[in-house]
Amino acid sequence: MTDTRENWTSRSGFIIAAVGSAVGLGNIWRFPYVAYENGGGAFLIPYLIALITAGLPLLFLDYAVGHKSSGSPPKAYRKLFRGGETLGWWQVCVCIIIGLYYASVLTWAGSYVYFSIGQMWGHDPEGFFFKTYLQTSDAAGFDPRFVSHIFWPLAGIWALTLVILYGGVKKGVELSNKIFMPLLFVLFTVLVIQALRLPGAAAGLNAFFTPNWAAMMDYKVWLAAYGHTFFSLSVGFGIMVTYASYLKPKTNLTGSGLIVGFANASTEILAGIGIFAALGFMAYTANSNVQDVVSGGIGLAFIAFPKIISSMGSGSDLFGFLFFTSLFVAGISSMVSILEVPIAAMMDKLKWSRKKAVTIVGGGSAVVSIALFSSVNSIKLVDIIDHFINNIGIIGGALLSIVCIAWFKRSALLEIKNHVNAISTVKLGKGWDFTLTVITSLILLVTLAMTVYHLLMKGYGDYSASLQWIFGWGCVMFCAVVAVILAQMKDREER
Ligand code: ALA
Repeated sequence: MTDTRENWTSRSGFIIAAVGSAVGLGNIWRFPYVAYENGGGAFLIPYLIALITAGLPLLFLDYAVGHKSSGSPPKAYRKLFRGGETLGWWQVCVCIIIGLYYASVLTWAGSYVYFSIGQMWGHDPEGFFFKTYLQTSDAAGFDPRFVSHIFWPLAGIWALTLVILYGGVKKGVELSNKIFMPLLFVLFTVLVIQALRLPGAAAGLNAFFTPNWAAMMDYKVWLAAYGHTFFSLSVGFGIMVTYASYLKPKTNLTGSGLIVGFANASTEILAGIGIFAALGFMAYTANSNVQDVVSGGIGLAFIAFPKIISSMGSGSDLFGFLFFTSLFVAGISSMVSILEVPIAAMMDKLKWSRKKAVTIVGGGSAVVSIALFSSVNSIKLVDIIDHFINNIGIIGGALLSIVCIAWFKRSALLEIKNHVNAISTVKLGKGWDFTLTVITSLILLVTLAMTVYHLLMKGYGDYSASLQWIFGWGCVMFCAVVAVILAQMKDREER
């Protein structure tokens, strides 16, 4: 059989695309609010520990699995162990669900680039965000009302994503990342420097960097750290497996992984620095504490930043433009990577052309996403789905991949290790094996068990049970059922 699988043009093309995937809304929108909600300074240490004990070991595993088998997750895991295809489809479904709401947050970011010119949010950014812009419903259940000014930009985001994906690995994904990543680097650097020059920035940085040992005793802070690290690194849900499958046979995998991991963590910490510096400025102007200046939560970036931007005087327009454009640019490259997973999976399984896969999978996702997220429920749905899919969907998929390989198929783990070590500069040794087999898997097992217990007993936030069951547990069940069904289907033969 001839190998028609597309490739990156070079290793650097892959690294740029992998960084583009990892650095996303997770770093600039999600990390700061998760950190803010989990005690600010309490969060940094658990985050770094989660990165070292779980994020990086899994990053190497994902790279190796995808590269060794040259396949999207269902094909890649099936080659490694029996039942692997079901796990692969689970990860594919997790990507489809993330893509649905990721587009929504990306739309907010894009719209805020426009709102930041002249600070259209006026004197009440919180009211503007929830009421004027999102028109958030007060109803406890699903409210079918529709917001036309969200519909069109959301449809535009989907159109842009699909156009990039139609271009394929080289001319779509790689090329777009080669444009977006340098742009992001410049925008983001200017932004952080601007934030650090604000009066009160030092107090914000103190809040971010001062460890809060008492808060670290709270297990929820640790759950949040482990729940965030995979989303942020794009591991555990098939993206890096898919991206690594497009690499040429002899590629330094660990070296590339370390560059991507380092670039992602640095951007995250830099985003933390920028945002806490800006919060320090807000505390300074309000004569208050960093932890008290703004309500946290999923809207942090869209409420705190407008407040900060408005109080900046002459630099307001520029600062607002830089912040929201960075958010948008970081997000669009990740959005592309999230959608590439189901597209690659359908191309592998049913031998669809890229055009057909993008049209059916991307177009179908777009319709569902637009229907759900241009409604007045958007922020509630983003919050619920993000929480369930990160803490159960991603952690569950990551845990299964590790347990199935490192516990039950040691020969596969050895093969993977030999494969990586034959082509990479940094060798995987006993430390990696031990971390993955014992530390990562046990931590993830405990994290998952506690999350499920907590969600079953107490639910999530103040949302109604119906919303949580339909959009939280419903998404988890969707992944499980679809994964089992698709894994039973026969692959279409190559023609
Ligand atoms: N890794 C991507 C992000 O951080 C999904 O947004």
